[in-house]
Amino acid sequence: MTDQAQDRVYIFDTTLRDGEQSPGATMTHDEKLEIAELLEDMGVDIIEAGFPIASEGDFKAVKDIAERSKETVICGLARAQIPDIDRCWEAVKHAPRPRIHTFIGTSPLHRAIPNLTMDEMADRIHETVTHARNLCDNVQWSPMDATRTEWDYLCRVVEIAIKAGATTINIPDTVGYTAPRESADLIKRLIEAVPGADEIIFATHCHNDLGMATANALAAVEGGARQIECTINGLGERAGNTALEEVVMALKTRGDIMPFFTEIDTKKIMHISRRVSTVSGFPVQFNKAIVGKNAFAHESGIHQDGMLKNAETFEIMRPEDVGLSATNLVMGKHSGRAALRAKLKDLGVDVGDNQLKDIFVRFKELADRKKEVYDEDILALVTATMAGEQANHLEIVSLKVICGTGGPAEAVLEMEVGGQEMSADEFGDGPVDATFKAVRKLYPNKARLQLYQVNAVTEGTDAQATVSVRLEEDGKIATGQSADTDTVVASARAYVNALNRLHVRRSKTGGDVKEISYKDVG
Ligand code: KIV
Ligand code: ZN
Repeated sequence: MTDQAQDRVYIFDTTLRDGEQSPGATMTHDEKLEIAELLEDMGVDIIEAGFPIASEGDFKAVKDIAERSKETVICGLARAQIPDIDRCWEAVKHAPRPRIHTFIGTSPLHRAIPNLTMDEMADRIHETVTHARNLCDNVQWSPMDATRTEWDYLCRVVEIAIKAGATTINIPDTVGYTAPRESADLIKRLIEAVPGADEIIFATHCHNDLGMATANALAAVEGGARQIECTINGLGERAGNTALEEVVMALKTRGDIMPFFTEIDTKKIMHISRRVSTVSGFPVQFNKAIVGKNAFAHESGIHQDGMLKNAETFEIMRPEDVGLSATNLVMGKHSGRAALRAKLKDLGVDVGDNQLKDIFVRFKELADRKKEVYDEDILALVTATMAGEQANHLEIVSLKVICGTGGPAEAVLEMEVGGQEMSADEFGDGPVDATFKAVRKLYPNKARLQLYQVNAVTEGTDAQATVSVRLEEDGKIATGQSADTDTVVASARAYVNALNRLHVRRSKTGGDVKEISYKDVG
């Protein structure tokens, strides 16, 4: 196939499907649209936007993303069942370039779930791929748990899918079981053994259970795969999927030994990584490759000395190449709105006039309290402002906390609930506990706190704290974030943001709750 000869590797992003499926990573409709837009803007070739039959919410997200898309292929997932495939087509057909992705588990353990014999499953694959291809000329087929499927059977079903019209064959390592050499070999042997294999694209889809997802995906490319399935920040079920930023930067940095290229605009990586972390409520570990807070930090004396003499001493990539600006120190209290707009543009953040006005107000407040305002501070402000904007059933009016050694903390909170101002005075085991109790007093709810996390955005005792709160209520999950130099204020705002989001979800029917799982294949 010509594309394979050119050594282009297509990037298939499944943050909105496999990533969003990971427990607790649920995104709202608007967040999914925003992430899809950022992915397209970054140059992702194929976006797997969701699993349309799973819920009304998933269907609408895939359809809306398809309608807004321009160049990127928009793909939806469907089990090997006719109603799934029809529903998927209904959602993706609105895209200029739609794709149906249908799959079935082919390993012995997965075959046992629908209780199909090998022959029955082969017939099902023929029937469903043919059906998909009659609807759409771009069809991807996956034998789920391919890496634990018997070799002869895998060759047989891949051949059936190709003959039935699949244009991409994806080979998933569903449980993160394979290892690099095996991953390369599997693709290479399939291309050699299966008739028609040289007419289609092979894809690799790796999970990270043994920490080998990136290595396995790159090895599969060496074996002949030309599509990598991945997610931003490696988001995904259990230990996650191959991280987009890792494979893309590995191919870019080591082109000398891996002569392949992608069309990703790598300068957009940091921004989308931060947005995905924020909307999913999944923080990026500090030492995460490429996008971790420490990935380009050099603290030890010997490293700093080397860096000052020649950045290449300890850096194999330039921070600018992934969207980190070289000079991090930014504006102070004398900076104006135009400077803020220019800075935001530099950071890859595109905001409207109203949003800029709100961010500017918070920026001024921060600059009054904090001597040095860094890029990270500004990005935290953007996130906090956007989170606060989304719904405002609850609005904090004022908060005072009294705490110290040897006694409980006291929180005095004034809050608007549905436009009505109320106040509460509560005691708790520390200032955050007292504050959350005061919020619950004014807005009784049965949401369970699943995650409470505090990170310092920059160094110093005047650093802003970013707080993430994840709540669960009757299967609905909502996350809230905020940032402030006062950790308790950031905590209160993050908690209230999450409650506001739950409030919105509660009042919607159909919401984002998945009705079925992609594993219920039968
Ligand atoms: O991990 C997996 O096997 C999947 C399939 C649905 C492609 O996500
Ligand atoms: Zn997967």
